[in-house]
Amino acid sequence: MPYRPEHDEVANPLRKGLRAKRVPGPCAVVIFGASGDLTMRKLFPALFALEALGELPGGFAVVGCANTPMASEEWRAKMREALSKHGRVKPESTPDGEALWERFAAGVHYVSGDFSDPRCFEKLKTVLEEVDRARGTRGNRLFYCATPPSAFPALLEGLKSAGMIAPPYSDNTTSVVIEKPFGRDAPSARALNELVHTVLDESQVFRIDHYLGKETVQNLLVFRFGNAIFEPVWNRAYIDHVQITAAEELGVERRGRYYDSAGVLRDMIQNHVLQLVTLTAMEPPVAFDADAMRDEKVKVLRAVRTNAEFVLGQYSAGAIGTSDVPAYRDEPDVAKDSRTETFAALKLYIDNWRWGGVPFYIRSGKRLPKRTTEIAVVFRPVAHALFGSSATQQNVLSVRVQPDEGISIRFNAKVPGESYRPRAVNMDFSYGAAFGGQAPEAYERLLLDALRGDQTLFTRSDEVQAAWRIVGDVLTSSAEKEPAPYESGSWGPREAHEMLARDGRRWRRL
Ligand code: BG6
Repeated sequence: MPYRPEHDEVANPLRKGLRAKRVPGPCAVVIFGASGDLTMRKLFPALFALEALGELPGGFAVVGCANTPMASEEWRAKMREALSKHGRVKPESTPDGEALWERFAAGVHYVSGDFSDPRCFEKLKTVLEEVDRARGTRGNRLFYCATPPSAFPALLEGLKSAGMIAPPYSDNTTSVVIEKPFGRDAPSARALNELVHTVLDESQVFRIDHYLGKETVQNLLVFRFGNAIFEPVWNRAYIDHVQITAAEELGVERRGRYYDSAGVLRDMIQNHVLQLVTLTAMEPPVAFDADAMRDEKVKVLRAVRTNAEFVLGQYSAGAIGTSDVPAYRDEPDVAKDSRTETFAALKLYIDNWRWGGVPFYIRSGKRLPKRTTEIAVVFRPVAHALFGSSATQQNVLSVRVQPDEGISIRFNAKVPGESYRPRAVNMDFSYGAAFGGQAPEAYERLLLDALRGDQTLFTRSDEVQAAWRIVGDVLTSSAEKEPAPYESGSWGPREAHEMLARDGRRWRRL
């Protein structure tokens, strides 16, 4: 029997009714960049997990497309291997998984070709027509651009010239998922958006940011707008400041070539971290739909003051746990004199009525002491120190995005005994304890939404543009500067701590 979510519901009745099932219509998914890491680690395993969960339509197929010459059989074998290595749902450990894989694999094909050569798209078109006949995918397509960004223009133009884009709102659907980074700066993002709009209607474009696929990130919306008690204090009258940290223990691994031309500002801040800022700071949307949601997020980004204070850093050699790790400049495919930043801390102000004067300190970096992403809302101190100066700590509401997903609230409690001695304690909610089971991978949720045509968790053109405005500013003013060195395994350069110390604050100890 294939793995079904109902099994979880039997084991844990709290899961019952957590998911509203809406199976998408028949569709062929084409993955450009089919031999890359993202396909192997995330995309293909996500598609197979969706199949195992019964979320995919009957008429379904996957066509991989990349430059590497390979027969479909070979790509299938690679994908099978990828499932064992990286899959949340592996055929070998799922009841009836091997039979499920055989059925799924019958709809898996591969087309090799150079994206700048029109013949590649002609070949793909022929294969897709065959797939329509054999698998009942009915001319509906989801094209996933999982390539380096330099290939996006050729892909869009190739699809258009080959007549592979159905008009919007017609009988056949065409959706195009575009990976990040969407552009390198504001002008290149604008140019890419212009090109996108010559080929597609905005309703067909899915700019992906996988942080929006994380359960904990989506829960921010439920937490803020599904509860009555937090929203009244969610503003400058009660909040002292907000800290957002997206820390990674890993270095650049095998991605030196890409990373050295990107840096943390383009790789994490412009997209993932600013998305966390928007969800924390946005006004309640008038409806829970793509436009209403994204309208509010764009307003936040537009309200962010330019010329933010910032600190950039680059990791030097050090130790993570018990292992010695090399300096960034000694990583493979990284220039020996690289000025690429692997750490950034910014102090943002959102100039609107809700947030006027409340700093949002955001930071992200590689080779920090641990992998942790957290949003901490720090409340103002009590108005009158009844129990002695600095006897109480500021209340903090912290959202643990990952790992150990949950939310906690710090408040002061009386230490038992004769005197009124307060001590900070935590009230904690943990996803694992409350809901059990394994949360779906971000890519599962996002692929399913894209297949259903739901753009709520994807970024709109004006949103990407507005995010680049904030980061572009930092990129310009830091262009000629050396990033400050920080030892691998530390919490970034000294200057990042000094930035908060100047405001009489400190980064949270995570
Ligand atoms: C990716 C970045 O978008 O996000 C990587 O390109 C980074 O550099 C990754 O490691 C982090 O994602 P997660 O889900 O592990 O926090």
